[in-house]
Amino acid sequence: MLGVVFSEFMEMVEEEFSPDVADRVMEQVEDMLPSGGAYTAVGEYHHSEILTLIGQLSADTGVPVEDLVEKFGRYLFARFAVLYPEFFQGADDAFTFLGTIEDYIHREVRKLYPHAELPSFDCDRPSDAVLIMHYESKRPFAPLAHGLIHGCIDHFGQEIVVHMDMPEEKAGSAATFTLRRT
Ligand code: HEM
Repeated sequence: MLGVVFSEFMEMVEEEFSPDVADRVMEQVEDMLPSGGAYTAVGEYHHSEILTLIGQLSADTGVPVEDLVEKFGRYLFARFAVLYPEFFQGADDAFTFLGTIEDYIHREVRKLYPHAELPSFDCDRPSDAVLIMHYESKRPFAPLAHGLIHGCIDHFGQEIVVHMDMPEEKAGSAATFTLRRT
């Protein structure tokens, strides 16, 4: 997983909790992290490290893991909007934007970072008001996708209800999201 994800996560902990919480979480887990926790934006790290960090943040703050992943997804989307403004040109609503992840955004991300570990999204548009997204990955980040989808909806300021169907046996590596404009 790219270092940018880790550096943004630590920024979120500092901003939404406090710098003390960020220091404490890192001190408590650094011995368990293969990288030792020294992240650089262009480095690559095992994706399980982010799960270790989120687990420790949950233990430290008492906030459930699912809520933290969702919060991080929203935060990360807002940061992507700042870091990669070029991907937002031509998209002025959430359905249009989300429909471009597979064939445009993540494809461009892979050009920039050939080792990026990206999921796949298969989208259906059964009606004007509904978008269905099938998420699949080798990693268990469906809850992160859920948070990113919410972040995207917030970004475009729309009223959209999201339903996540995550089969238990897939342990977060597959999910279907049904988005309905209200
Ligand atoms: C401007 C928008 C976006 C950019 C620039 C972007 C870029 C990235 C980058 C750099 C990674 C990390 C790759 C790695 O660690 O190797 C990533 C992973 C991921 N992206 Fe995106 N992304 C964007 C939007 C979205 C949205 C809206 C969703 C959800 C629908 C999404 C779903 C994911 C997920 C779930 C992962 C984690 C890896 C996995 O599940 O296997 N992305 N993306």
